[in-house]
Parts: sequence; structure tokens; C-alpha cells
Amino acid sequence: MKKLLLSAAIMAISASALAQTTIKYSHVVANDTPKGQSALKFKELLEERSNGEFLVEVFPNSQLYNDDKVLEALLLGDVQIAAPSVSKLNRLTKKLQLFDLPFLFKDMDAVTCFQESDAGQELLHSIDGKGLMGLGYIHNGLKQFSASVPVRVPADVDGKKFRIMSSDVLAAQYQAVNAIPVKKPFSEVFTLLQTKAIDGQESPWSNTFSQKFYEVQPYITVSNHGLLDYMVITSNEFWGSLSEEDQKMVSEAMSEAIAYGNDLAAEINERDRKTIAESGRSEIIELTPEERQQWVDAMRPVWAQFEEEIGAELISTAEACNK
Ligand code: LMR
Repeated sequence: MKKLLLSAAIMAISASALAQTTIKYSHVVANDTPKGQSALKFKELLEERSNGEFLVEVFPNSQLYNDDKVLEALLLGDVQIAAPSVSKLNRLTKKLQLFDLPFLFKDMDAVTCFQESDAGQELLHSIDGKGLMGLGYIHNGLKQFSASVPVRVPADVDGKKFRIMSSDVLAAQYQAVNAIPVKKPFSEVFTLLQTKAIDGQESPWSNTFSQKFYEVQPYITVSNHGLLDYMVITSNEFWGSLSEEDQKMVSEAMSEAIAYGNDLAAEINERDRKTIAESGRSEIIELTPEERQQWVDAMRPVWAQFEEEIGAELISTAEACNK
């Protein structure tokens, strides 16, 4: 046993001595979420395949940076990989606002269909040339509202403050129902909810569970009104510093890690929905078709507001994926 431990220790030391390139992968969610699991899978695959040439350090839970600071950190070379939500990349390319349009995608199959289309792949590369490049999309899921009051129809959120990511489409979505959007980093949401500085937020089940929002939000409405997905990005400078062979190894490990996280996403969200329901901390409100339609009617006009920036054709391509 002692011998085994000793040789394991020697192997670990020689692997780290061999490591030539450290990749810091920074994100803001917990490990046990679709993105968290995908990041850990990437670490496992790349370290194993490169025989210690790459060392991947994953920093979850905004330990290193929140998403608003991580782009700068990537450009400065302080981290090499990040996976912000697409909503947080809107400021790089207005076309990415597409992903925030309320009630655009019916389900996650429609999201996959769009992301795999030529238009979706073109969008993935729409940030290229700004010192950054997209390596792939990672799924989380559709978002639900949580609030301090029961939310069934738009009138219920009149005058209520909802935390949003830094996206003008999301701001317009709340203004359309007379609520007050508050742009704040993810790492601050729990405290804002707990102290009642805001009334609600919107997230897929995995984030509402892993960040414990449900412990301080008595009501969650099954609204599936919008999407939370991510783009895995790196910097051109880091990418250019790798040999072609290493780029291939990193790309392949990343594609597999993304597929792994995407396969798990629905399962994790369903598991977390059940755990929240069983906890009895939040009441889960199901909408009738008529109630849901009120949200659609109130929020759909937001599309027209952003159509010029996003492009009507792109919106139609995405809509065509709702089969
Ligand atoms: C948010 O800020 O709500 C999300 O982008 C967090 C995340 O990365 O899932």
C-alpha cells in the first residue's frame, strides 16, 4: 500500500514537473452544474491526453473573476479560458442579443439545432478578431422566474426589481412588463435576494439550486421564458502561442467536454428542480396556457425593438428550429 502511494506521489510530481502550459479556466457557477461539469471534464481529458504537458486549473464560483471582469483577464493573459453566458458577450457583437430574446426557443433541442446551423456557427465566431475567439457553446437551460411574491401573470411583477445579466434585451424584457431590471454580477445575487434589495431573479433550475436562491425566494414560476447558454472563449494570443498539434489536442478535449456537459444539462436541471420541490422552501408555480400567453403577448414586442441590431433573417433562422 505504502509503495503504491509512493509511486502515485512520484507520478503526480513528475506530471507537474513536466507541465509546460497552465490553462486557468474561470467561471462563476458551482462545480455540480452543466458548465462546472464540462470544465472538470476538460481538465480530466486534456491533462490525461497531454501526459502532463498541460495543467488545467478550474476556478468555479467567481473565485477568480466575475463574468464582467473575465474578458479583460483573458485579454491580459491572466486566465486562458472562460465560459460567460452569451448574454454577457452582447457588448462584443450585437447579433448575440438573439439568444436573449424572450420566448424565442421552445426547448433545448431548438437551441442545439440553431447553434449547430451555419448561422449559429457564424455567431460563435462573431467575437473573433476582438482578441478573443469562441471554442464552442455550452448548454445550461431555459430560465424560470423566482420572486418574493407569487408570479402568475405580468401584473404580478409590476414595480418589482429583478436582477438581470448585463444585457439590454433582458432589461427591455422586464420593462415590457413594468418591472425594474437591475444589472448585477452573478456573485451578488444571493445577498441581494436575501437582504430584499431586489425582489426576484431569473435562472435555470441548476443555478437557482446551486446558488441557494430557492432558500431566499418563496416562489418559483415555471416560465421557460428565456435561455441561459454559454460560449467557451479563449484569447487569440493564448491560442497563437500553441503549436498546431496542441491546438488540435485542446480543441478536441474541449469539444468532448462540451458534449459531456450538454448531455448532462437536462438531467442536472431536472434533478435540481426535484430537489427544490422536495425541499418545501419554495412553492413551484405552474402556469396555465392562458397565463403563459399573457407573458408571451407582453414580452414579444421586445423582438421588434432589437430586430435591426440582430437581423431579421437570423431571428427567422432561430425560429425555424422550433419544430
Ligand atoms: C448569470 O449571471 O446569471 C449566469 O451567467 C451565471 C452562469 O454563468 O450561469
